[in-house]
Amino acid sequence: MVVAGESPIGVFDSGLGGLTVMRSLIDLMPNESLVYIGDTARYPYGNKPAAQVRDYAVELATSLVHDHGAKLIVVACNTAAAVALDVLASTLPVPVIGVVEPGARALVRVTHNGKVGVIGTVGTIASGAYDKAVERTAAEVVLSSAACPGFVEFVERDQTEGDEVMLLATQLLAPLKAAGVDSLLLGCTHYPYLAPVIQAVMGEGVVLVSSANETAFAVRDLLESQAIEAPTKAVGERHFYSSGDVDAFATLGRRLLGPELGSVSRWKKGTSS
Ligand code: DGL
Repeated sequence: MVVAGESPIGVFDSGLGGLTVMRSLIDLMPNESLVYIGDTARYPYGNKPAAQVRDYAVELATSLVHDHGAKLIVVACNTAAAVALDVLASTLPVPVIGVVEPGARALVRVTHNGKVGVIGTVGTIASGAYDKAVERTAAEVVLSSAACPGFVEFVERDQTEGDEVMLLATQLLAPLKAAGVDSLLLGCTHYPYLAPVIQAVMGEGVVLVSSANETAFAVRDLLESQAIEAPTKAVGERHFYSSGDVDAFATLGRRLLGPELGSVSRWKKGTSS
């Protein structure tokens, strides 16, 4: 397959969370064109069986390659990356980058006391993907992890502050506070939108790590190494698709990402136009 630099990068998530990764991609590489699919009709992924999430991931990534000519796929969803990165990398005709490895690398770099934490969906934490990714860094750290069911739904409902979310965060993060972690990876791309709440619960001394920037750096390095970058003077275009309510996605998405989120089109399997 011939991939030209002008082709877009394809990015997907279960919903709005991957916009945190889009922000970093846009900021780092404004010349790259991007196509984003948020699978809001089928979110959340975090409580679904791994095989089902894998099927969704294959559908979305395949659509990005075949319907949109994506030259590279960014799995901007930890849950999907945790269970589907291998199958995507071995079946797609383009390179694939997930958020798990970049996140783990960033996490072990910032710790001082060697006690690190990761939070994610039930699916991500149960997959053990972060245990393996942190082990692969060979850093001498102790990893504590906690699933945070409910966090994603709060973000998708645009409820990122208030007593309810604070109460849930206090309960779910208690084991990580007790473990004395000094750095905490937000192992779900939705969670950066809850950073103020998570920071308030964990305390100012704990560094919150998001995988978005590190993933964008990994994308840039891969584009360079494969010589498929967009021309420096190109002006990147961005296209957004949602499998659910496109107006709701546009309204909340614009608030979360910023003005780069223009119109949103409907994504349907095999017909994303
Ligand atoms: N943003 C997805 C992730 O990073 C959320 C998964 C979900 O839909 O539950 O895991």
